[in-house]
Amino acid sequence: MPASVAASALAVPHSRIRELAEIAMSMDGVLKLYFGESSVPTPDYIKRAAQKAMADGFTFYTENAGLPSLRRGLARYYKEQHNVELDPAAEIIVTASGVQALNLAIRCLLDPGDEALVLTPAWPNGSANVRLSNATPIEVAQPLIGDRYGIDFAALEAALTPRTRMLLYTSPSNPLGWVATVEEQQKLLDFARAHDLWLMADEVYERLNFSGPKVLTPAPSILKLATRDDAVIVIQSFSKAWCMTGWRLGWLVGRRDLVDRATRLNEFVVSHATSFSQKAAETVLLWGENVLCEMLVKLRENRDFCLAALAKMPGVTVPKPEGAFYLFPKFARAADSFEFCKKLLLDAQVGLAPGVAFGNGGEGSVRICYAADRPILEEAMARLSLFLK
Ligand SMILES: Cc1ncc(COP(=O)(O)O)c(C=O)c1O
Repeated sequence: MPASVAASALAVPHSRIRELAEIAMSMDGVLKLYFGESSVPTPDYIKRAAQKAMADGFTFYTENAGLPSLRRGLARYYKEQHNVELDPAAEIIVTASGVQALNLAIRCLLDPGDEALVLTPAWPNGSANVRLSNATPIEVAQPLIGDRYGIDFAALEAALTPRTRMLLYTSPSNPLGWVATVEEQQKLLDFARAHDLWLMADEVYERLNFSGPKVLTPAPSILKLATRDDAVIVIQSFSKAWCMTGWRLGWLVGRRDLVDRATRLNEFVVSHATSFSQKAAETVLLWGENVLCEMLVKLRENRDFCLAALAKMPGVTVPKPEGAFYLFPKFARAADSFEFCKKLLLDAQVGLAPGVAFGNGGEGSVRICYAADRPILEEAMARLSLFLK
């Protein structure tokens, strides 16, 4: 038999967002709203903290779970933001990004042949990581009920098999902008407890929350409801709230046995996150709130501007997102969302992400990332409106 690539690697589908982005990158003048990142560069105080960390000698290996001082900072952050007590030595791992936290956690939970329930439409990396573990993602679509997304517990129940090991959900959601209420989280936790599943919450957008009483109120965290003995894991990242996508820095919170195992496995994956990035992140946790507040005010304005513009276009249904920085409108003309986005890109040079990329329930919609500069959004909405006419 000739040498071949592993079937598990071949089973992971190509990202359809990338497929579109690759066409866009070969073109000039494209308004790029397809990727999930803010156009705001990392704030200067964070860059300065990284320069200082390098000058101070944070250029060596660190612990597999990350610098103890950063983990203590994260524990303090949970106390301040959610009034949740965490043991920094046993319940937190610093990771080299949110996606690495996802990968590490999934590796620790799934054996080949296992199944993972995934609430969709969702960022495709969750299902892809399940496949990378030789397991099967079972995507259960979140229904739009009135003007808000919900959770179809009957469908979740029906999707259970003896191989189901975990349930992954994302709140605030990419791409829906849905933010799970405390009641919805309680039901997810009850469901997981009743069926002996791990409950994995991707909370990387928790600070981009428009459903709270104050601008800086984070989205509710599952850690507030769960006990530290529950089979619960939270995936987190510095990427979104602090404009640090290129830094590759995240974290994971989980039950002690999982954290212990994941810490050991991390040695064989990346060993640990970059040492000077970790040191700089301690500064983010101490001084990040003011800059974040300014960004949230602008994001909310961007969201409202785009919602108003979309409302005037023909054949569009768009629920008001409660968090993250995406809109997920359904277009009557986007029954094949990839073809719709491709034509929009080629004819009007507007780059959006096709809904089909987000799994079950995504087809027919497109994702617009509104964390862009206002003039770009204004031009994109004008071109989209013309295109639809
Ligand atoms: C839902 C969700 N989770 C996790 C991530 C991972 O972020 P990062 O790997 O940059 O930390 C992203 C990035 O787009 C995301 O949208």
